[in-house]
Amino acid sequence: MHVKNLELKNYRNYSSLSLNLNKGLNIFVGENAQGKTNIVESIYYLSGVKSHRTSRDSELIKWDKDRAYIKADVVKAISDYTMEFLLSNEEKKAIKVNGIRINKISEVLGTVNVVIFSPEDLKLVKEGPAFRRKFIDNELNQIRPKYHHALLQYNRVLMQRNNLLKSIKFSPSNRITAEVFSEQLAEYGSFLCDARNEFIKKLSLIARLIHRKITNGKEELEIIYDCSIGKYKNKQETKKWLLKYYIEEMDTDIERGVTLKGPHRDDLIIKINGFDTKIYGSQGQQRTAALSLKLSEIEIIKSEVSEYPILILDDVMSELDLNRQKFLLESLKDVQTILTCTSLNDINAFHFDNKDVFIVKNGNISKLKDINNNEIYNS
Ligand SMILES: Nc1ncnc2c1ncn2[C@@H]1O[C@H](COP(=O)(O)OP(=O)(O)OP(=O)(O)O)[C@@H](O)[C@H]1O
Ligand SMILES: [Mg+2]
Repeated sequence: MHVKNLELKNYRNYSSLSLNLNKGLNIFVGENAQGKTNIVESIYYLSGVKSHRTSRDSELIKWDKDRAYIKADVVKAISDYTMEFLLSNEEKKAIKVNGIRINKISEVLGTVNVVIFSPEDLKLVKEGPAFRRKFIDNELNQIRPKYHHALLQYNRVLMQRNNLLKSIKFSPSNRITAEVFSEQLAEYGSFLCDARNEFIKKLSLIARLIHRKITNGKEELEIIYDCSIGKYKNKQETKKWLLKYYIEEMDTDIERGVTLKGPHRDDLIIKINGFDTKIYGSQGQQRTAALSLKLSEIEIIKSEVSEYPILILDDVMSELDLNRQKFLLESLKDVQTILTCTSLNDINAFHFDNKDVFIVKNGNISKLKDINNNEIYNS
């Protein structure tokens, strides 16, 4: 799939923009704070109906305006889609697909698939568990609309249960309501664990192959689901286990004022040659493992929806050495790629035939005409 045309109005530092994008590689080059990430953010918005940087639409609206508009023509194997998002400071956002008003966000999720790779993602291994959970959730939200719904419900019930736990000391009768929430939490929670388990199994297989290639067969990567309730068996057992914990061990949770077990405490264990990469891996190994995981994301989406997602590489090239850049390049043959960099020298490995270079300057974009001209290329 690819975005053919992107239109922005009063989005971040863009007053008005209409861009034709290449179905291969699109390079956005510009100095800091010119609007490169703003562009890729608007493309990411198509997939998740939210920014990857903030959950508040109001931040996306140009400072002196009340509304922002994103429109994209997306080409997919089976059908084309025109997607429109009208963001407002005062009203609920309005979404249209092919001119038809959509009321539920879950109905739009999955129409466009985007994988985004930015420098923070290179810290995927090193960062705390919340970062890795977000990685899993973002992926599953795109390929399983039911997951998105279950996650929203789970987080809502979790918050309600946590609030009740804090109140039980003063109002013991709230325990009965907390039991009702516990049942709901176990139901949604076991659904999430089950989807995560299935996804991580796939991820592990694909990431191992990719990692072998990047390291010339020297390293075996292993991704293990670190489920907060222990070794994962199946949905039914998990539900039983969670419910038992939530009811029988409620006093532990009351004591701490939070729910201590459940998918909100899950993690991934990432091993290289049998050793935990987070603890023993070198910085280079941790980055390569992160790259393998991100590239696996692309392949998993391909296997789920039979089309490659759109790939965003935001400011990531200068963080990768030439070998890894080359590997990345080889993996991108059939993938529409939106790449940002501050200097074309950052992308030495990228000798693509099918590419356009755009210059980004203070919310304005111009296309570089002669990309084969070395002088311009290196300037
Ligand atoms: N809502 C908004 N309205 C107007 N301008 C905004 C808004 N939000 C952010 N900006 C501005 O957009 C500019 C560009 O931001 P962006 O993150 O796209 O930069 P960038 O080109 O990716 O820079 P870097 O190379 O540092 O990552 C910033 O100067 C920021 O102040
Ligand atoms: Mg940026």
